[in-house]
Amino acid sequence: MRVSSFIAAALLQASVTWSSPVETDDLVARGASKRPNHPIKPHHPGKPFPVSPARTKTCTVKTYGNGKDDSKNVLSAIKSCNNGGHVVFSKGKTYTIGTALDLTFLKHIDLDVQGTIKFTNDTDYWQANAFKQVFQNATTFFQLGGEDVNVYGGGTFDGNGQVWYDLYAKNNLILRPILFGTIGLKSGRIEDLNLRYSPQWYNLVANSTNVVFSDISISGYSSSSNVAKNTDGWDTYRSDNIVIQNSHIDNGDDCVSFKPNSTNIVVQNLICNGSHGISVGSLGQYKGEVDIVKNIYTYNVSMSNASDGARIKVWPGVSSALSADLQGGGGLGAVSNITYDGMVLSNVDYAIEITQCYGQKNLTLCNEFPSNLTISDVTIKNFVGTTSKKYDPLVGYLVCSSPTVCNDINIQNVTVKSPSGTNQYACANIDGIDSQVNCKKVA
Ligand SMILES: *[C@@H]1O[C@H](CO)[C@@H](O)[C@H](O)[C@H]1NC(C)=O
Ligand SMILES: *[C@@H]1O[C@H](CO)[C@@H](O)[C@H](O)[C@H]1NC(C)=O
Ligand SMILES: *[C@@H]1O[C@H](CO)[C@@H](O)[C@H](O)[C@H]1NC(C)=O
Ligand SMILES: *[C@@H]1O[C@H](CO)[C@@H](O)[C@H](O)[C@H]1NC(C)=O
Ligand SMILES: *[C@@H]1O[C@H](CO)[C@@H](O)[C@H](O)[C@H]1NC(C)=O
Ligand SMILES: *[C@@H]1O[C@H](CO)[C@@H](O)[C@H](O)[C@H]1NC(C)=O
Ligand SMILES: *[C@@H]1O[C@H](CO)[C@@H](O)[C@H](O)[C@H]1NC(C)=O
Ligand SMILES: *[C@@H]1O[C@H](CO)[C@@H](O)[C@H](O)[C@H]1NC(C)=O
Ligand SMILES: *[C@@H]1O[C@H](CO)[C@@H](O)[C@H](O)[C@H]1NC(C)=O
Ligand SMILES: *[C@@H]1O[C@H](CO)[C@@H](O)[C@H](O)[C@H]1NC(C)=O
Ligand SMILES: *[C@@H]1O[C@H](CO)[C@@H](O)[C@H](O)[C@H]1NC(C)=O
Repeated sequence: MRVSSFIAAALLQASVTWSSPVETDDLVARGASKRPNHPIKPHHPGKPFPVSPARTKTCTVKTYGNGKDDSKNVLSAIKSCNNGGHVVFSKGKTYTIGTALDLTFLKHIDLDVQGTIKFTNDTDYWQANAFKQVFQNATTFFQLGGEDVNVYGGGTFDGNGQVWYDLYAKNNLILRPILFGTIGLKSGRIEDLNLRYSPQWYNLVANSTNVVFSDISISGYSSSSNVAKNTDGWDTYRSDNIVIQNSHIDNGDDCVSFKPNSTNIVVQNLICNGSHGISVGSLGQYKGEVDIVKNIYTYNVSMSNASDGARIKVWPGVSSALSADLQGGGGLGAVSNITYDGMVLSNVDYAIEITQCYGQKNLTLCNEFPSNLTISDVTIKNFVGTTSKKYDPLVGYLVCSSPTVCNDINIQNVTVKSPSGTNQYACANIDGIDSQVNCKKVA
């Protein structure tokens, strides 16, 4: 189809209704959800979040049904309602998406997802067409960006992950799309949504500022023997002033992960189950690149059935290989001003894990080439609960590659015990750490 006729056809498919500029009740009467606007509390990253003006028109997305690709319907409704509108994905309906949608042109728009948005299982199409986000070979089904965008409505994004879990088990070099790509978004709120069966990470938040995620439910397990892998809840990258709060995450990798250049972020009131913890990193993966993670506040997290509670993972000064599709080391940069305040742990392998030897099990080798990525001003406090049996008598692992690149680590009021009642930590290369925790020196 030619572009002009495509747009004409698309415009015809959107049902556009205009309303008076005075919004809310009128829109709600016609099936639109009210904006949730969950307050950011109790912590706040410090910078203000711009006010999002009320929207003045509504567009309802049509659906063909029967699994036919609704992407044109979605795009046309969004185009009709961009710059001041409210797009409704109706309750009870399933919208099939079989086309990679570039939604980085959004401006002053609300996406009111009450129904289900389900991505097709065409793994060949998505591998060829999902948006490449460069970092860690990440790709996304869609990219949502622009300015002043809100997504809410109580509905579901379904990544149809099973085909991907099974395919990845056969070939771990395939590129599995991330369910929700927030890319280049300047100001927005993503609230009251269910994210299900992501092929890989659930959220990538990249090149974004002033974005709040609140009241999100994340879950999705494999129904075959092939485990759903790398299903991080959120990964932030090159992003500033971000809040992630009031959410429940059942997954199989990092609950939240702060990747390079994540700054001024608050994570609070989360229930994480089955994850790899709240992680800074991995950082320093790419030789010569400068990674910065600073001003992070993590508060009130319940962490169950996880490999870690608080985790900071940095690659060593020279390259190493963790697995066929994960290798790195030699990067530069700094991790600083990181606080983990309040965590309740249950069946977690390590309550705290700080490593500057990520990907390198040979600590002698790691110490020969200390990381050029410093870790400083880290506070971990008010943790309670019990670890798993896995490393008993150890409850944590605090291993830097040299004291010169790792300092001002403060562990306070952490009373976590192992199932056998011990509270021992593996320690190396952190000055003063043995006066804070019960250390067992390694390397
Ligand atoms: C993919 O989805 C189609 C349509 O929903 C279905 O007929 C087909 O069985 C699915 N393929 C796989 C491998 O699950
Ligand atoms: C972010 O912006 C940079 C610079 O404009 C660009 O190179 C990159 O591809 C963008 N996306 C991501 C995910 O980094
Ligand atoms: C990216 O994917 C390519 C091809 O699958 C692979 O060779 C490379 O190691 C991957 N890079 C990372 C950082 O995972
Ligand atoms: C901690 O988070 C839980 C939900 O995850 C919430 O119910 C509780 O109110 C929060 N507590 C505080 C003190 O904010
Ligand atoms: C919590 O995680 C465990 C272990 O990963 C899993 O078996 C269990 O089903 C999860 N619970 C929920 C409610 O998803
Ligand atoms: C991260 O920030 C540092 C310092 O500003 C910069 O040198 C580096 O290029 C940035 N990295 C990315 C991936 O944007
Ligand atoms: C450290 O981070 C917190 C937020 O977590 C922020 O309030 C504080 O200003 C930061 N301190 C410095 C010195 O930047
Ligand atoms: C942790 O896993 C166990 C066993 O799978 C499960 O019974 C429990 O509910 C999980 N905890 C949470 C908080 O989901
Ligand atoms: C670890 O690295 C050191 C230094 O290169 C080497 O001498 C030693 O054999 C290595 N240990 C193992 C178990 O590979
Ligand atoms: C990084 O660290 C390695 C090993 O510790 C060192 O050989 C190298 O010169 C450093 N690179 C930079 C750019 O500082
Ligand atoms: C230690 O942490 C626990 C659990 O968060 C908290 O209830 C208690 O008030 C803390 N104690 C101090 C002295 O901060």
